Amino acid sequence: MEITIKTHPPEINGIMQLVEATKIFPYLTFVGEKSWQSFDGYYCAYRDQSFAGVLAVNRIGGWVKLGPLAVLPEHQGYSIATKLIQQAVSSEKDNIYLASANPSVWKIAQRLGFQESFTWANLPLAVRMIYFKMSIRVLLCGESLHFIKEVLRKQRIANVHGHQHFVYSGVQYNSRSCIINTC
Ligand SMILES: CC(C)(COP(=O)(O)OP(=O)(O)OC[C@H]1O[C@@H](n2cnc3c(N)ncnc32)[C@H](O)[C@@H]1OP(=O)(O)O)[C@@H](O)C(=O)NCCC(=O)NCCS
Repeated sequence: MEITIKTHPPEINGIMQLVEATKIFPYLTFVGEKSWQSFDGYYCAYRDQSFAGVLAVNRIGGWVKLGPLAVLPEHQGYSIATKLIQQAVSSEKDNIYLASANPSVWKIAQRLGFQESFTWANLPLAVRMIYFKMSIRVLLCGESLHFIKEVLRKQRIANVHGHQHFVYSGVQYNSRSCIINTC
């Protein structure tokens, strides 16, 4: 099995697969077709040459926010999300912030050396500005109504608002065997 990561936006076919799959993802509320094309940067994963998932990034003022993050259901459990985040951590030059309501992402982040650092109340200004920029883009893409509808639907099935906020602290564990052997 070969996993490769490329720094280009997902192709339209991959985006359509992500939008379809997101309907059943409890924690990722909604990212529309146009929004998926509106982010500042991308890490795209391929498993044996098939599109498998993407980590989008957004940057402002010395900070980069990782996410949205999605791995297609048939490619989950192969450490693809872990590799996407690892790649971003080694490529991005700014302070790295990641937030998620998905406990699987919390585990991955903690294992990679992220520290839980903030709450919604005390986020750095630059991170707040990234959220603002992302919201404006959803509006400009004409996808905000669909987004709100999906938040209302999904908050009945999962704690979509229960985010943990992480900052990368520089301690990185590189491989599954290293973690299992606690080396
Ligand atoms: C959450 C998500 C991105 C994880 O993708 P993935 O590629 O399956 O993730 P990984 O394979 O890297 O990790 C999956 C599991 O393997 C474990 N794992 C991964 N790498 C590991 C390693 N090196 N050592 C030990 N365990 C590892 C993870 O802890 C996780 O465990 P869990 O099943 O108990 O949660 C994916 O499930 C997804 O796209 N979900 C829907 C969208 C979503 O919720 N996105 C996040 C919203 S902010």
